[in-house]
Amino acid sequence: MNIKVNLELTAKETAEAARQGNIMVVIDVLRCTSSIINALVNGAERIIPVKALREAYKLKSEHPENLLAGERGGTKPEGFDFGNSPLEFTRDKVQGKTLIFTTTSGTAALIRCRTAKSVLIASFLNVSSVASRALKIASREEGEISIVPSGRRGHFSLEDFLCGGAIVEKLTEHNVILSDSASASLLSFQQAKNSLLNQIMKGEHAQNLVKLGFEEDVKFCCQVDVLDITPSLKNGAITL
Ligand code: MLT
Repeated sequence: MNIKVNLELTAKETAEAARQGNIMVVIDVLRCTSSIINALVNGAERIIPVKALREAYKLKSEHPENLLAGERGGTKPEGFDFGNSPLEFTRDKVQGKTLIFTTTSGTAALIRCRTAKSVLIASFLNVSSVASRALKIASREEGEISIVPSGRRGHFSLEDFLCGGAIVEKLTEHNVILSDSASASLLSFQQAKNSLLNQIMKGEHAQNLVKLGFEEDVKFCCQVDVLDITPSLKNGAITL
């Protein structure tokens, strides 16, 4: 069976795909999904994505043992335990912990997808793992795969589109049918992959992070296929 692969470019398309029951693969390379993946790989027990800061503070007041993580404008909100730098989530700080996570665009995209049966968390760090997990679910359930680049504040973002292409490249090792947007992301990734960090560094989001002092985060997030894990979002929490 040929599995259909779409890359959802708008919030409306994403919401429709989630409603339709597609396997949702959510990407926010800089930096939300890279941070979530690194926190889980370093032993965090679960991550609860929330949209608004006030929800995060409310959850924290109800569960003071949980830790607050995320950003607004790229920096750590007042009273938070962590910002949104993947490098902050070290084993000594996160092992066994539940993190309440809120970022500007990444957690919003996750929440947009949460009604779907399968929501997988992707970044450059885990492209092979996420592609094979998505394929397995799609074959079992005869579903379509929807790749969701979170973008930045509702706008297109280069690094998420390229990461979509990296996942599509893995998927094309199997029988898949690509939408035009999925094909475009593949073509872009193939063009950029030999100088990926360089290309992403030129992007608007990376430039902003460099200005804020987070150049090392961009380098970390541009490592391709270094982790063999695929977290998923179920019943409001992300776990391994
Ligand atoms: C977001 O979700 O908007 C990003 O992760 C922002 C950031 O790089 O901190």
